[in-house]
This record gives sequence, C-alpha cells and structure tokens, in this order.
Amino acid sequence: MPQIIFLPHADLCPEGKVIQVEPGVTVCDAALANGLEIEHACEKSCACTTCHIIVREGFVSLNEADELEEDMLDKAWGLEPESRLSCQALIGDEDLVVEIPKYTINQVSERH
Ligand code: FES
Repeated sequence: MPQIIFLPHADLCPEGKVIQVEPGVTVCDAALANGLEIEHACEKSCACTTCHIIVREGFVSLNEADELEEDMLDKAWGLEPESRLSCQALIGDEDLVVEIPKYTINQVSERH
C-alpha cells in the first residue's frame, strides 16, 4: 500500500502527516479521509484550484493531468512543474511526498 507524506503546512498539518492509501483514489479524497482538511471549494469538479498540491516525489506515478486540469492549474497560486489538482490526481503504486502550498487563490483574493 503506498503512503503519502504530507510536508508540514502551518494551518492544515503543522507537523506534517503520513497516511497509508489505496491506489486509484485521488490525493484529495485520501487526505480528507485521513482528517487532513485540504481545501476543495468546487467539490472536486476541477473548477477551482483550491486543492492545488505540489508533488515533490512520485509525480510520475500519478495519472496524467488532462487538458482541463492543466488549464485550471495555470490559475493556481504558486504553480510549479510538479503541481497537480489533488482532486484529479489518482494515486498510483508509489509513495508520494506532497507539499500543500501556503495559499490558495481563495486566500489570496481575501488578502488583497
Ligand atoms: S477541488 Fe476544485 S479543482 Fe479540485
């Protein structure tokens, strides 16, 4: 069973978090099922980018992002080459190291 290591995030998991996951589940669902309240403002329909994650290890073991996801990611705060929308990223059979960005577009718009 693969595991996901979430790097520390000030609000969501200050100490970081390690969870065991089933392949074929999205990173977002796996996180939520384990008490990690990753944002998912559009209810996981690939329309908001608040569930943005950066996959520091294991990126290639995920399913490929489709065009809609790529388009949405362009709007995400802090985009990196290994960015994914966690509600669209299906876990493969490798361990992952995931960083949750400091902000989401919701928070950025609240601050400005
Ligand atoms: S929850 Fe909105 S894009 Fe993932």
